[in-house]
Amino acid sequence: MNPIPIIVDCDPGIDDTIALLAAFVSPELNILGITPVCGNQPLERTVRNALQVCELGGRTDIPVYAGCFRPMLREPIHGQFHGSTGLGHTTLPEPKKTVETMSAVDFLLEAFGAAAEKGERITLCCLGPLTNVAVALRMKPQLVDGIERIVMMGGAYREPGNRTMTSEFNVLADPHAAHVVFSSGVPIVALALDATHQVMLRPEHVAEFFRVSGRISETLAALMAFWDRNDVRRYGSRGGPLHDPLVIAYLLAPDLFQTEKAHIFVEYESELCMGQTIADWYGKSGQAPNADIVTKVDADGVIALFLERLGRYAEKAAA
Ligand code: RIB
Ligand code: CA
Repeated sequence: MNPIPIIVDCDPGIDDTIALLAAFVSPELNILGITPVCGNQPLERTVRNALQVCELGGRTDIPVYAGCFRPMLREPIHGQFHGSTGLGHTTLPEPKKTVETMSAVDFLLEAFGAAAEKGERITLCCLGPLTNVAVALRMKPQLVDGIERIVMMGGAYREPGNRTMTSEFNVLADPHAAHVVFSSGVPIVALALDATHQVMLRPEHVAEFFRVSGRISETLAALMAFWDRNDVRRYGSRGGPLHDPLVIAYLLAPDLFQTEKAHIFVEYESELCMGQTIADWYGKSGQAPNADIVTKVDADGVIALFLERLGRYAEKAAA
């Protein structure tokens, strides 16, 4: 089967990093580029982190393009669970690789435009705020012809928010961008907190990942240990929710996921509910569904998938 062409838009970020490391060793995926955005960290740090993760994962062949340095309208907000650098307490080597001179938005326009001209489509994996994607969509609406689908981590439907009472971080960080993307007509697979909170990366899992992941084991285990919220009341167990990695898991093993179609709306006016994502499960709005919302996940299957994938670093030589 031909590899799936993908672009990873992200804000590394500990869970972004775990997602990237798994994608790097998955030949089913042809990663055309990585487009960091302002999110968990300011843009300069998410770019730097992405460059360092490419070197850690032995994938300096993948170009990194700097995205938007702030949301479309709102003041930037940053992540609370990734440490001061966005990569926990780890210290990765200085990146030898440099960021591309082309901007992320120009890269998205070029990549999706070229795909559309060839009658091909690229899958867009969104692991952070949707600013880059929204700006590109506003530049060239026919961009949608080159997008197979957007598989995104973001939103919260039947789950409460993780940054405010109602809202999940990626959508809250740029609700206007999320509204543009959900209104674009591009097919969307939405992995929200409803899905990611079903897959907790617990301390006992971290020990397993340390055991299997060879040359990246120290860094990986340190990142995963930092991710432990230690909040049993909120999450029902120790550990941290595997948010962004589920996007990659969905592409690699869709049978581990169940979805329901619904039209998704984004609140971008109310300060109380800013960034809330609302699913019209029963067609009350009269608007056709614009997304497949993941409602059920085989958590054990996802953990096993990632152990197998990250176990590939045991035999994978450094770049
Ligand atoms: O709410 C979780 C999301 O916000 C994840 O993508 C995490 O990396 C942060 O960006
Ligand atoms: Ca992220």
